[in-house]
Amino acid sequence: MTTRPVVYVTRRIPETGLAPVREACQVRLWEEELPPPKSVLLQEVADCDGLLCLLTDPIDEEVMAAGTRLRVISQMAVGVDNIDLRAATARGIPVGHTPGVLTEATADFTFALLMAAARRIPEGVDYVRAGKWRTWEPMGLLGVDVWGATLGIVGLGRIGTAVARRARGFAMHILYYDPTRRPDLEAELGVEYAELDDLLARSDFVSLHCPLTPETHHLIGEAALRRMKPTAILINAARGPVVDPDALVRALSEGWIRAAALDVTEPEPIPPDHPLVSLPNCIVVPHIASATVSTRERMAAMAAENLLAGLRGERLPYCANPEVYARPL
Ligand code: GLV
Repeated sequence: MTTRPVVYVTRRIPETGLAPVREACQVRLWEEELPPPKSVLLQEVADCDGLLCLLTDPIDEEVMAAGTRLRVISQMAVGVDNIDLRAATARGIPVGHTPGVLTEATADFTFALLMAAARRIPEGVDYVRAGKWRTWEPMGLLGVDVWGATLGIVGLGRIGTAVARRARGFAMHILYYDPTRRPDLEAELGVEYAELDDLLARSDFVSLHCPLTPETHHLIGEAALRRMKPTAILINAARGPVVDPDALVRALSEGWIRAAALDVTEPEPIPPDHPLVSLPNCIVVPHIASATVSTRERMAAMAAENLLAGLRGERLPYCANPEVYARPL
């Protein structure tokens, strides 16, 4: 009898992912609600062949050094900024992720945030709950128009493009900034390339869809926020640290911009007493842009597919560090 590979799964995930992994591997599952502490992670990876992790798990050099048997790391998320890809590549460990399957859910949610902030929906809900709705008010809870407004998309990848497709339905003028110019999408979607400063100055809505890298860390800080229109709304469904939270607090309290809607924050989770949580012109939700039943099921299945391919010694179908396959032996 061949021994089955040992796999550590850092949280309970949908059965679409757990079942195939259980069938082929000896699974150790962290059953708690919160992520495993680093000490547990270090201990668990020590005798594992594979790791199925989440964006809440910092998979750094230390974890990889502890996982002397690790042959594959598979993350159930598209973003992999919590994983030291360079360290993984140096050790010859392929890292899997889940691109594509969450694009539409995330774009839907980005639009939900945009509309909620533009039309002040959470404030309206609070108003009714607080018993303040006494009559129809000609000037109560006025928002801003989405239809025909200018949307600036920072990062025209899969999700940014899906947001642009939705924005066309609202007759929005769409600007984009991306290190890679996309003439194909300019022609197909009528999006206009703009340098970041220009995009910030011209947009009524600025929506972030770039990965978190050293280049995008605090990309939206004081200077960027001061460039935006005082009527503009910032949406972040990318990664929290793309925005400098201290600068954003000042921007929202001092009126440099009108409002913000954040699915992601720095830190994450954001403490409930953080000013961004209580500012009336800021919407904060707990990193749920991909949180639909079918999307999470597909993400889990894809994470399993990557994991099992890696354990079989095959190329991962969705690999975040493809350079691992090119490295000299
Ligand atoms: C979620 O944020 C993801 O990266 O999948």
